[in-house]
Amino acid sequence: MKIVSVQSQKGGAGKSTITVHLATAAVARGLSVRILDSDAQKSAVLWASMREAKTPEVLHCEPTKLLAAVEKARHDGIGLVIIDSPPNAGPDAVDIAAPADLILIPCRPGVFDVSAVKRTIDIAGMAKKPFLVVLSACPPRAPEIAKTRAAFEAAGVPVAVAEIETRRAMDRALQYGESVIEFEPEGESAKQINQLLAEVLA
Ligand SMILES: Nc1ncnc2c1ncn2[C@@H]1O[C@H](COP(=O)(O)OP(=O)(O)OP(=O)(O)O)[C@@H](O)[C@H]1O
Ligand SMILES: [Mg+2]
Repeated sequence: MKIVSVQSQKGGAGKSTITVHLATAAVARGLSVRILDSDAQKSAVLWASMREAKTPEVLHCEPTKLLAAVEKARHDGIGLVIIDSPPNAGPDAVDIAAPADLILIPCRPGVFDVSAVKRTIDIAGMAKKPFLVVLSACPPRAPEIAKTRAAFEAAGVPVAVAEIETRRAMDRALQYGESVIEFEPEGESAKQINQLLAEVLA
């Protein structure tokens, strides 16, 4: 079983969007997937409540109960657990990182966003977990994307090859409890999510 914790101390970085998209892409690949939504905002839980399909499973779980919830997922034969998390998680952030095999850190291209990633990298360090930054909600073809990637690479921060662009389909799919994997399976966003999933599962 693989456990990925999607974390970023900055609000609106794309954590919940990436969580539900990765989860549906993994379901489409035949994996048994459970999302543990550790954010009191419960975005992933809300998405599931609007959704007709029964998979991926989405359960709310307080940060301090994640270790037990992950053990339960292992017992239930789940193949992939994805943990969605709150912004500004404070002391909870280490509890959220603790069960993970990988911390996935969404970051919008921009100077304030890059600065926030440093705090999330510190949390990964405290939890002694590997991490991967993914450039998220990128304005298509904007020069900031390459600049942000170069800044991370110069600092030795691993960045996913996949870049998740801002696209209307991504936002729109969520309103119907779907994802671009179902909403526009041949579209550019679905390709980007599938590429990110391959990197996360590698
Ligand atoms: N790739 C994208 N394309 C279009 N819209 C996006 C994309 N990524 C995020 N958004 C939009 O940006 C907003 C914030 O995204 P999201 O809720 O996923 O971020 P978050 O990090 O989970 O936020 P929070 O910190 O509040 O939990 C949402 O309205 C979402 O639909
Ligand atoms: Mg969220």
